[in-house]
Amino acid sequence: MKVEVKHSQHVSSNHHPWVSATLILTGLGVIALAVFWIRKCRSSTVQKHEYSALKTDGGSTETCKYEVQIRNGAFMTCKQYLANNERYELKTQLGDIGTRPDKHWFIVQDNTLTAERLLSLVPLPSDCPLNPSQQTRETLLELFRGLQHPYIHPVLDIEFWEAGAALVSPLNPSGSLRDVIYGANFSHDCQEKYADRGAGLALRTVQCLGRQILEALLFLQNRQFPPIYHLHTGNVIIQNGVARLAGLENLLFGLTPKPPVAPDTLAFGYILFEMSAGYPLATPPSPAHLELELERAPQVADALSLIFHKSRPATLEDLVRCDLFRGVELRELRGASILQFSTPQEVLELLDQVRNPVPPSPMRRKDVVIIVEDRRLEDILEEDNEDSDTSSGDSGR
Ligand SMILES: *[C@@H]1O[C@H](CO)[C@@H](O)[C@H](O)[C@H]1NC(C)=O
Repeated sequence: MKVEVKHSQHVSSNHHPWVSATLILTGLGVIALAVFWIRKCRSSTVQKHEYSALKTDGGSTETCKYEVQIRNGAFMTCKQYLANNERYELKTQLGDIGTRPDKHWFIVQDNTLTAERLLSLVPLPSDCPLNPSQQTRETLLELFRGLQHPYIHPVLDIEFWEAGAALVSPLNPSGSLRDVIYGANFSHDCQEKYADRGAGLALRTVQCLGRQILEALLFLQNRQFPPIYHLHTGNVIIQNGVARLAGLENLLFGLTPKPPVAPDTLAFGYILFEMSAGYPLATPPSPAHLELELERAPQVADALSLIFHKSRPATLEDLVRCDLFRGVELRELRGASILQFSTPQEVLELLDQVRNPVPPSPMRRKDVVIIVEDRRLEDILEEDNEDSDTSSGDSGR
């Protein structure tokens, strides 16, 4: 059969010279293509070699980076503190991956579990409600052990150093919800990674992540955790596509929250908007703004008006029941063993201390500070309402 076919081809090519011409041309074409391909591969391997040569020569860039780190006092501090620590070994310092200017981030090696961890170091404010002692450390670790939940980012370890509180938590390559919204690499500086407007997430993603955050907030509420005021997209860590609340320690240490300062449900509203629209709000959105911006996601706009435009703002329970979040499946909660335990007395006392900080005795300065801050918050919310009413629609464009 085969021979016959070949034969007939041969015969026909003899009879029609244009067929053989075509065959020859095709053959030449194939050869040309092959030559081109080989050249291309060669040049790319050359480039690769050049690149890796640059990289190895780039000991100089490596040294430069090292020098920057050495110059950085925080790096030295961390290095000194970990010098005698058998468990954690300092690997590298990250840049300004978050917006808090006095916070520093490091990658450390946990030698007991042979895993890389994120160590963050933040100075404690003078009005920190907690006394940074060994006892406090143990109570805090107890508190965080009790907060194990699929939608809470764990705090694995805490140390109080002269320079502030050092927190060890898992290192998540996908970064925060903010990184996901702006398509950013978590390890890059916040100045650059959030400079451009992000892409709004798909409705399905908004629903899942939103519901997961709500569940975390409900869980904290059940555990008598005080209102957080530190809830924003940078404090939601994404792990395997699942949202996990982080930054709870900010409240415990009395750090200043990032504006717009808002309690849980309002803060959730800001997150929900940023997830859908791809940019953050500085003030509550006006109804017109929502309608315009979230035209393609009316369910999200509805949920946001429950939060921002009702005389009685929605509770967490209301939000869980609204159209947007009601049907979301909570896969992670199914097999999770969430500890049903009574919170130890010392943890309750610590939370009380955070809720009602003891004013320093002679001047009772903290009372004054708190009143001023409370008033400021209300003022801000009022101003925001006015602002967003007047600038409806065009903000954020
Ligand atoms: C993020 O950036 C770092 C350093 O620039 C790089 O090594 C890493 O591969 C990047 N990660 C991703 C997922 O692109």
